[in-house]
Amino acid sequence: MWSATTLHACLMLWGLWDSAPYPANSFLPLDLNLTAHIFQDFMTQFNKTYRTQEERDYRFTVFVQNLKASCVLQASELGTAQYGVTLFSDLTESEFEKMFGIQHPSHPPTLKQSVKLLKGAKSVSCDWRKFGAITAVKHQGNCKSCWAFAAVSNIEALWNIHFGLPRNLSVQEVVDCMRCAHGCEGGYPWDAFQTVLNRSGLTNDKQYPYMGKQQSCRKNQGKAVAWIQDYEFLPKDEKYIAHVVASRGPVTALLNVKAFQHYRKGIIRRPSQACSPENVDHVVLIVGYGEVKSRRGSWSGPYWIIQNSWGKNWGEEGYFRLHRGTNTCGIAKYPVTAIVRNAETRLPALCPP
Ligand SMILES: *[C@@H]1O[C@H](CO)[C@@H](O)[C@H](O)[C@H]1NC(C)=O
Ligand SMILES: *[C@@H]1O[C@H](CO)[C@@H](O)[C@H](O)[C@H]1NC(C)=O
Ligand SMILES: *[C@@H]1O[C@H](CO)[C@@H](O)[C@H](O)[C@H]1NC(C)=O
Ligand SMILES: *[C@@H]1O[C@H](CO)[C@@H](O)[C@H](O)[C@H]1NC(C)=O
Repeated sequence: MWSATTLHACLMLWGLWDSAPYPANSFLPLDLNLTAHIFQDFMTQFNKTYRTQEERDYRFTVFVQNLKASCVLQASELGTAQYGVTLFSDLTESEFEKMFGIQHPSHPPTLKQSVKLLKGAKSVSCDWRKFGAITAVKHQGNCKSCWAFAAVSNIEALWNIHFGLPRNLSVQEVVDCMRCAHGCEGGYPWDAFQTVLNRSGLTNDKQYPYMGKQQSCRKNQGKAVAWIQDYEFLPKDEKYIAHVVASRGPVTALLNVKAFQHYRKGIIRRPSQACSPENVDHVVLIVGYGEVKSRRGSWSGPYWIIQNSWGKNWGEEGYFRLHRGTNTCGIAKYPVTAIVRNAETRLPALCPP
């Protein structure tokens, strides 16, 4: 599981280690010129500017720590995920946590669970993006609103799939009008669905645009352009979740994303002790799934395709893939989806493979 060779090669790649036999935990940045060069590339690539030389020096030390952390992740990775320089490489762990979205992950809700198992084709792969059902990747900014983004994308996708009506709905309305009115301090997708039910729908995002901060709830927000009938929790069973994704549409899910700061691409599979499935702290949207077939010696296995709300510059153009079937990082803990009328009454939708 743990590969010292990978760790060594990775540290060398970033100039954090040379070939001399140093003790395994020394992690000395030896080729600082190389690392500084990589930092300069990072600043250019992600358009980073720092106000003072002190700030720049501080960010460089954080960057070096993060490169080391990404090497440790790489050495313990069980899937095909690649870790390294990302747009979050100059953030400390606690700064990065501001990108999460659940305020009190230790207080799970009482679940109502009623979703019926649907009949329909069981396909080996499904990608609602190919149907044009998934709206653009968004950036939550400096607000823990992932729960609202995931829930709104879920509703937008269901309106595309079951009514053929494209919608860009107001995430800000959900953030502002949530019951406890601390929308930028985190929430759950069911808070969002309950808010949509209470308001009898959502207006579009042009009329109530995203500001990335808590505001007071606007009373006359404009006409609702989409609504839902209910929402439902799914069983903590990844086969069942896949069936619902294929036959109804995307599903929101919670998961533990501490390792995702350094994620670049590939299929994430973490050892469960390195990514506790209990400590879920972020909300995302499952938009499909697939399977890598076994070829000589290469990695194979099933995966989820998931939309995040950290912008298009993160991961696989704003998406990531995660191992499916082992509750990786808690993905099966709280799957939940909105219910729209046609999804119940019409034939199962067909998800493009
Ligand atoms: C690092 O780069 C500087 C100039 O940018 C050079 O003077 C110095 O010799 C270099 N150091 C090493 C160890 O390559
Ligand atoms: C780069 O950042 C600066 C300052 O934050 C901003 O004014 C500029 O528009 C950005 N450029 C690009 C290409 O993103
Ligand atoms: C939704 O927003 C996207 C841009 O993000 C735009 O291309 C699309 O036309 C919009 N759709 C509707 C129905 O307004
Ligand atoms: C929805 O409305 C009910 C009754 O007015 C209220 O008790 C509940 O807190 C509201 N929920 C949200 C999420 O706004």
